[in-house]
Order: sequence, then C-alpha cells, then structure tokens
Amino acid sequence: MTTVHPTEPADAPTTSPVLAVRSLSVRYNDVQALDDVTLSLDAGRICGLIGVNGSGKSTLFTSLMGLLVPQHGTVELFGMPTAGARKQGLVAYMPQAEGVDWTFPVSVADVVAMGLYGRLGSARRLRAADRAAVGEALERVGLADLRRRQIGQLSGGQRKRVFIARSIAQDARLLLLDEPFAGVDRASQTTMTHLLKVLRDEGRSVLMSTHDLAGVPELCDEAVLLHRRVLAQGVPSEVLTQGNLALAFGPAASDDSPPASSPATPEGNS
Ligand SMILES: Nc1ncnc2c1ncn2[C@@H]1O[C@H](COP(=O)(O)OP(=O)(O)OP(=O)(O)O)[C@@H](O)[C@H]1O
Ligand SMILES: [Mg+2]
Repeated sequence: MTTVHPTEPADAPTTSPVLAVRSLSVRYNDVQALDDVTLSLDAGRICGLIGVNGSGKSTLFTSLMGLLVPQHGTVELFGMPTAGARKQGLVAYMPQAEGVDWTFPVSVADVVAMGLYGRLGSARRLRAADRAAVGEALERVGLADLRRRQIGQLSGGQRKRVFIARSIAQDARLLLLDEPFAGVDRASQTTMTHLLKVLRDEGRSVLMSTHDLAGVPELCDEAVLLHRRVLAQGVPSEVLTQGNLALAFGPAASDDSPPASSPATPEGNS
C-alpha cells in the first residue's frame, strides 16, 4: 500500500494515491456486496477491475462516488473525501449502461458540457472557451459530427465515447469507468483503448471494470480481482494467474460465498 498524505493539495506533485480505499464494506439489506476492500491507485495508471457478475464492481464505483453509505471503511480521492474531489471536478464517473436514462432530451454536446457545470456559475452559461473545450473533447473521441444528436440516438459504443468526452472537457484527473467496453465492437474498443492510454500518458488515472480479460494486459498497468473481497491486486501478469482466475471465476467463486482466504490476497485484505 502506498502511504497517504491527506493534507497535500490535489494539484501538488505528489506520490500519494489519487484513490485510496481502506477496509470498505458495503451491505444492501441482507447482501454483503463488499467486504473489507482495500486498494489504491496512483496518478497516471490504468487499473482493470475484474470479477464475475455480482462480485461488487458497480458497488465499488458507486461507493467511490459517495453514492452509497458504507457499512465500514473509508474512501479518499486525491487525499480528500469524495465530495471535495467531485466539487473540484477531479473525478468523472461513467455508470454501467443500465443505470443511465437515455431518453433524456439532451444533445451529445449538452452531455459533454455537463462535465463543465462544476466550474460554471449557477446560470450554467457556456463561454466561448467552454464551447471550445466541448468541441475539442468531441474531436478527441471522434464524435464532433454527432454533437447535435439526442443522446439516445447514438449507438452503445458512441454513448461510451460521449462519457469519455465529458471527462476530457471536465479535465478530470481520475476516470471511473464501469464496463466501458460492454456492447462495444472490436474497432471501437481499439479506438477507446488508444484514447485511454493517451489520457493515462497525460497523467490521468483510470479505474475501469471489464469482462474482457484478454484485453487487460495490453491496456492496464495493474489489475484488481474482486469477489466481494479483493482476491488479488498488482500487475496484470501476476494477478491474472490460473490460480487466481479459478478463485474468481471457478466453482469456489461461483457459489454465494467468497473464499475464506487466498494466497494471492494482498496485504490489508487477508
Ligand atoms: N440496489 C441493490 N439492492 C440490493 N442488492 C444489490 C443492489 N445492487 C447490487 N446488489 C447486489 O450486490 C452484489 C454486487 O452487485 P454489483 O452490481 O456491485 O456487481 P457487479 O460486479 O457490478 O456485477 P455485474 O458484472 O453484473 O455488473 C450482487 O449480489 C447484487 O445482487
Ligand atoms: Mg456492474
């Protein structure tokens, strides 16, 4: 675990993690969705979050965004509580597609401009520079031509790129992407993979859930294997071992109880 320095300002050069989760447990009535999850992510890193359906990935994202009250544990983004990081526009969140109302009567450009709302006054009037930021972000994801289209009239892959454009316009330093590749064809995934690497090379960090295990070593600097608890965490080649994958996806993980312990469980999660 990297040491956390909560008092350092977010924009100072620092080695403290952009994301620090400690002993996080989340419960929905009788379902224990997360149990004692501890993980961290440094600046300029892409981390793949991997686990079977129901392993707690989306619950982790909603917890990181402060949308769920944990039973136990803490979340810090940029050394501060989530609310502070959100207020400063440091974090952007792409929910899993099922959680989004696509019938909402807004254009592609409107959705991207929403990333700027934190900086605008209560009138939310876009200045020329804001409009330029929206246009540039749409250019970067290859959607400039579709800027006036209603968001619901885009393909699944295009909608994902709209969220990435919104994060870029916002200049978010941490992107939380819940299954960005779900329903995305191979060509779009390749485009998005390239874009995420460019954003990473700009010093941004990405935590993204994915079921595309084969794509993780190519895209991700690190991986987290989740099954209610963190089963393994580290560089993909060390995390995606046969033994760990059997723990996460095999019979031991497919019944309703997580493994009692794992040799691969990192420090702080055993
Ligand atoms: N609102 C809710 N109320 C009750 N239980 C919930 C709720 N949301 C999720 N759960 C349960 O919590 C557990 C974790 O769900 P979560 O959606 O976080 O999994 P996931 O890893 O994102 O799955 P998927 O790969 O299908 O998206 C599951 O057992 C799920 O049934
Ligand atoms: Mg999910």
